[in-house]
Amino acid sequence: MVAYKSKMVERISLPARAQRERNLEAAGYNVFNLDADEVFVDLLTDSGTGAMSDAQWAALVRGDEAYAGSRSFDELESAVADVMGFDHVVPAHQGRGAENVLYGTLLEDGDVVPNNTHFDTTRAHVANQGADPVDCPVAEAHDPSSMEPFKGNLSLERARAVVDEVGADRVPVVVQTITNNSAAGQPVSVENTRRVREFADEIDARFVIDACRFAENAYFVQQREDEYAEVSIAEIAREQLGYADAIVMSGKKDGLVNAGGFVATDDDRLYERCKQRAILYEGFPTYGGMAGRDVAALAVGLREAVEREYLADRIEQIQEFGSLLEDAGVPIYQPVGGHAVYLDAGAALSHLPDEAFPGQALVCELYREGGVRGVELGSFAFPDTDRPELVRLAVPRRTYHREHFEHVADTVETVLEKGTDVPGLELATEPEMPEIRHFTAELRPL
Ligand code: F0G
Repeated sequence: MVAYKSKMVERISLPARAQRERNLEAAGYNVFNLDADEVFVDLLTDSGTGAMSDAQWAALVRGDEAYAGSRSFDELESAVADVMGFDHVVPAHQGRGAENVLYGTLLEDGDVVPNNTHFDTTRAHVANQGADPVDCPVAEAHDPSSMEPFKGNLSLERARAVVDEVGADRVPVVVQTITNNSAAGQPVSVENTRRVREFADEIDARFVIDACRFAENAYFVQQREDEYAEVSIAEIAREQLGYADAIVMSGKKDGLVNAGGFVATDDDRLYERCKQRAILYEGFPTYGGMAGRDVAALAVGLREAVEREYLADRIEQIQEFGSLLEDAGVPIYQPVGGHAVYLDAGAALSHLPDEAFPGQALVCELYREGGVRGVELGSFAFPDTDRPELVRLAVPRRTYHREHFEHVADTVETVLEKGTDVPGLELATEPEMPEIRHFTAELRPL
C-alpha cells in the first residue's frame, strides 16, 4: 500500500543512445565513473540516496550547530533509546566511521572475527586492526533458488569451527549483520540472533550487531517468524538489537538520512573508550562528524523507519520490482531481500565465463540500453572468491515509483534478448588495492 505523495521533485532524463555509448566508453566500462546526471534510474546503492520526509526537513532547519552539548544530539540519544534500546550513543560521519571507532576499540592484532557476512567496509576495518574477518553464512545463502525464509542467518556451526580452530581467546567479537547485505539483503531471524548471543556468552566474546537495515529486518521477522506475527515492528527491532553488547549503524540506510552513523551500547566502559577514539577520528561526541542538522534529521528518521506503513510500502515495492523482473523472464536471487533485487548474471549471460565478468557485462548493458545503473557483486568486485555472479539493483528509500521499475524490467528484458551478442570484459587498468578495485578499475570489451 503506497504511503506517500510527492512534495518536491527532481528532474531526470534519459540521454540519447549515442550519448550513453560515449559515456560508457569514457567511464572505462565502470559505472562508478559515470556522472549521476547521465543516469536515468540510479540503483547503484540504497545508501544515503533516499528522500527525507517533510518532518525530517523541518527538523533540519531547527538543527543545533553547537560544537558541544547540541540539542540535536539529545534528540538523537532519545530516539536511539526509544527505537533501538541503548542508553549511550557515539555519533560518527557514517557507518564506516562508526566501524573504525568500535572495531578500533575492541580488536587487536591476531584476533579473529566471525560474521554472517562482512560488508566490504566491515571486512576492511577488521583487517585494518590486524584481525582476520571470517564469513560464516548459512549454506543456503549462496543458493539463488533456495526459498528458506532466513538466508541471512549466521551459521553457528561455522562459527564454532572457527573457534575450535583458533581458540576462543582469539575471538573477542562475534558480529551479525542485519539484514545481510553481502548475502543478497537476506533477513536474520530473532531466534538466530538469540543463539548467537548464547554462543558469544559461551566463548566470552562481545556480540556486535551491524544494524544498518535493522528495521527492514524486523519487518521480515514479523512476516516470517511465527512467534513474532502479532508483535509490533518497533518491539521486534528493540528485542533483536537488545541481544547485542553494541551496535554499529549507518544512518544512510534505515536512519533515512543522507549522512551520518553511530555506535550505541549500554556498556559504560565500552562507551567511554569509544568516545575517546571518536574524538580523535570523528569529532566531539555530541556531533561526531555530522552537522547538527543532520543529527536532528537522523533522530526523526530512526522513528519513521520502524513505522509499519513505511516498511510495508518499502518492502512491497521491492517485491513488486522483483515480480516485474520475474515476469520478464529474468533470473533473480530468491526470495527478494530487503533493499535490493539481485540479478543472477551467471545464469542470465551463461555464455560468459567468470573471467569475462558476466556481472559487469550486464551492468554495462543496462546502462547502454536504458540508462540504468546497478552494481556488480561477482568476480569483478570479489576476485578469488567463489560467490555467484550477481548484479545488485538497490532501491533508494521513498524515491522511485512503479514506472521506474517497469522501465528497468523492460531494459533487462531487452538486454537478455541480445543473448550471446553481449560481450564480456577484461581489465584495462588494475588499481593497487584489489579489495576495492571495482570502484575505480577501467575495463574494455573483449
Ligand atoms: N555495513 C553494512 C551492512 C553496509 O551495507 C554498509 C554500507 C556499511 C556498513 C557502511 O556504511 O556507507 O555509511 O559507511 N553499505 C553501502 C552499500 C555503501 O551500498 O551497500 P557507510
